[in-house]
Amino acid sequence: MEKLVVTFAVAFIAVVVATESDDSIIENINRAQNMWKAGKNEITDKGIEYMKRLLGTKIPENLDILPRRADIEIEENIPTSFDARTQWPHCTSIGSIKNQGHCGSCWAVAAASAASDRVCISSGFKVVVNISAENLLACCSDCTDPGERGCDGGYPEKAWNYFKKIGIVTGGDYDSAEGCQPYEIAPSDEEVSENEENYYTPPCQKKCTNKKYPVSFRKDKHYGRTSYLLKQSETTIQSDILKYGPVEAAFTVYYDFYYYTSGIYKQTSTFKVGGHAVRVIGWGVENGVKYWTVANSWGKSWGENGTFRIRRGTNECGFEEYVTAGLIKK
Ligand SMILES: *[C@@H]1O[C@H](CO)[C@@H](O)[C@H](O)[C@H]1NC(C)=O
Ligand SMILES: *[C@@H]1O[C@H](CO)[C@@H](O)[C@H](O)[C@H]1NC(C)=O
Repeated sequence: MEKLVVTFAVAFIAVVVATESDDSIIENINRAQNMWKAGKNEITDKGIEYMKRLLGTKIPENLDILPRRADIEIEENIPTSFDARTQWPHCTSIGSIKNQGHCGSCWAVAAASAASDRVCISSGFKVVVNISAENLLACCSDCTDPGERGCDGGYPEKAWNYFKKIGIVTGGDYDSAEGCQPYEIAPSDEEVSENEENYYTPPCQKKCTNKKYPVSFRKDKHYGRTSYLLKQSETTIQSDILKYGPVEAAFTVYYDFYYYTSGIYKQTSTFKVGGHAVRVIGWGVENGVKYWTVANSWGKSWGENGTFRIRRGTNECGFEEYVTAGLIKK
């Protein structure tokens, strides 16, 4: 039933998109509000099937049944604005923007990136690594729905569970030859996205795929100590970031989101496309509007140099109700 609904929704959007040009979509968004600017970008140029594939986060229908961490202490003096990149400048992973390629791996990319940030912060800036999104994407079978694989989408809280129970090796970006298991899916460019092979999840490998990497697979693993889902509360999320570093947030993407180029996003479209996971790196206020600062995984040319800002305190598109993270095992 769900598949049918999704198929129908996509067909419907495809029709809407086919009959409505990018220009008029953009015009409508920009006319409807003045908080953010819509425009064409590398992602919207690729068409709805491609765009839909990027949304690989499963959002459980009933979030209320998931246990939430209740023991977060709310920080007393939460600053009006905060940027993890400038707070912890030695942790370079915080400012890095990933490119998930043509795969619904946002759930894994966001978790691995936030885990990299947290490993660095909790080590007192001594351990600077990229935790491998590849390893998580390819090997966490618990993270996906039965019969599916990582690129078909996954559950963020299960990614953090995997990090705690099984551990994840290091691995840099595509073609970086960095770490034990670098990312194997190419950034989304036209040529590669037409390649069928690129559509599939890489196989799970229990060895370092980077032959030149000197550390063994087993020794290269990093582990979480805890994994948790935060309460739906702005100050809880802020307190967790202030204390431990960036978190992963999952939210519902409406069609207009793809066209984001700058400003503070709020929903204008009613076409729901899917679930997406991202990494929250800070917050602020602009012209009296509170926002979260967020790293996306659609490359640096999308949005504000790969990041976006979204309205804060209003649970915009469910942004504050499915926030996950974990603490690091030292
Ligand atoms: C991690 O990846 C980024 C690119 O996303 C790269 O700039 C950085 O050097 C990598 N870190 C390490 C420790 O290799
Ligand atoms: C994006 O990066 C460019 C070049 O570094 C910089 O001039 C610009 O201010 C950045 N934009 C935002 C929104 O951060």
